[in-house]
Amino acid sequence: MEVVLAKSAGFCFGVKRAVETVYEQIREQEKTAAEGKKTLPIYTYGPIIHNEQVVEDLAKKGVKVLETPEDMENLREEGIVIIRSHGVERSVYEKLQKKGLTVVDATCPFVKKIHNIVEKESSQGKKILIVGNPTHPEVQGIMGWCDGETVCIEDPEQAAKLTFKENEEVCLVSQTTFNHKKFKECVEIIKKNGYNTNVADTICNATEERQTEARELASRADVMIVIGGAHSSNSRKLYEICREQCENTYFIQTLDDLHLELPKAARLVGITAGASTPNNIIEEVQSYVRRNF
Ligand code: F3S
Repeated sequence: MEVVLAKSAGFCFGVKRAVETVYEQIREQEKTAAEGKKTLPIYTYGPIIHNEQVVEDLAKKGVKVLETPEDMENLREEGIVIIRSHGVERSVYEKLQKKGLTVVDATCPFVKKIHNIVEKESSQGKKILIVGNPTHPEVQGIMGWCDGETVCIEDPEQAAKLTFKENEEVCLVSQTTFNHKKFKECVEIIKKNGYNTNVADTICNATEERQTEARELASRADVMIVIGGAHSSNSRKLYEICREQCENTYFIQTLDDLHLELPKAARLVGITAGASTPNNIIEEVQSYVRRNF
């Protein structure tokens, strides 16, 4: 029997990079301690990833999470603050630096690119239009790099209701994880309404690639295993996609949830995982299936 693990399973590039950054900082501080020098406490600005096990593991190693801007304001000691892949507003960097904290920036380069676009375009007087969820930290971070007014829309209905002044120049960007189809619909509506808009499609393909690969793998597999958090919407979506292609699709959080029953004629088991599933869990599941079936 063949077991195939999707290449795009688990952390995307940006999240992987951010989590590795934290472990790197831990190692550096351990080295400093071993040399008998003064160490600095490590903080992350918000949880580095929406995965309890990872956050707990980091907590055990002494990493604290700054949950709110007030947590940062209340810091009375020196320390290292790691910015997560979502990125943050420009003002956060300024405040951290003013407090004498060392900033380690793990903003995903794809998000950073959006910050650079909106900073430049808004400084030239363009109005920034963001297609995304206004309450998402990534979008709030993007807004925090704009000079002047910004508008955020979430769907084509809101796009249809937009009104801009005549001759107003607009720069449109998207939240990296926004749905491609919905984004296109919004752009079409805005263009049709004749606004002077330049569009930067800043959607990141990591999610789409993971979904496309899962669909393809599930269509060949006799059994499909999707690993992801119960509350993770991208993992649930992966499960739905796989279930459409493969009736025997299992949705598990960890190996403990897996009660695998393989049909006799099963020849291919496919495995994929949501964006916040750590590698060690994926490895555990993979080697268990390889060993036992
Ligand atoms: Fe991940 Fe960066 Fe894309 S955080 S989803 S690789 S924008």
